[in-house]
Amino acid sequence: MKGKFITIEGPDGAGKTTQVKKISDYLRCKNIEVLVTREPGGTALGEKLREMLLTLEGESPVPEAEALIYAASRAQLLNKVISPALKRGCIVLCDRFVDSSLAYQGWARGLGIKELININGWFLKDCWPDITLILDIDPCQSLKRLQGKKDRLEREALEFHKRVREGFLKVQNLYPDRVKTVDASLNPEEVFQKILFEIKKSGIIKM
Ligand SMILES: Nc1ncnc2c1ncn2[C@@H]1O[C@H](COP(=O)(O)OP(=O)(O)OP(=O)(O)O)[C@@H](O)[C@H]1O
Ligand SMILES: [Mg+2]
Repeated sequence: MKGKFITIEGPDGAGKTTQVKKISDYLRCKNIEVLVTREPGGTALGEKLREMLLTLEGESPVPEAEALIYAASRAQLLNKVISPALKRGCIVLCDRFVDSSLAYQGWARGLGIKELININGWFLKDCWPDITLILDIDPCQSLKRLQGKKDRLEREALEFHKRVREGFLKVQNLYPDRVKTVDASLNPEEVFQKILFEIKKSGIIKM
């Protein structure tokens, strides 16, 4: 793979989409080709699966089904969008990826982080991210940032969101070289500077 794969992770309302925009703006200013995508979604099929996962209407998937639907969306995105872009030499910037499944379904839903690594590892093969930034924040603070209509996962109880945060920290412990945590309680520009520091330090992009 010629390109590099960067993923931004963290609980609901942590500021992922805000930071993805800042990072992509920064890289494009440096004339670096960036492909921005998101999970679940990013493909026609993935967007349909996203709707199924996040809607409040109808029957909710059981945790195992939820884990597999996320994985299906990810397999589609990887094969249709991410791998081709990496082969072309792009920097791929993805708003959530496999580590969300490890934290949400593996830890917070209790399916087991190892089990989720096995399910996802089956199709990810050697296409794990080169660097993952986890935006770490107390859910009491991040959930306050979300205004208006909340999706199915955002509506979960505070205890669930606390387990999600714990799950992300466990993932960081499992993959200390790849995964870095950033204090997301700071203002957007401060968070961005910390992300930039980690990306530069990793040496995966010369900038
Ligand atoms: N560092 C920050 N401090 C305060 N507010 C922030 C910060 N970063 C983002 N916000 C605001 O918080 C809200 C949620 O941010 P954003 O959509 O980037 O989070 P997210 O992690 O992508 O959320 P979701 O999980 O729902 O996709 C937005 O209104 C955004 O402007
Ligand atoms: Mg977002």
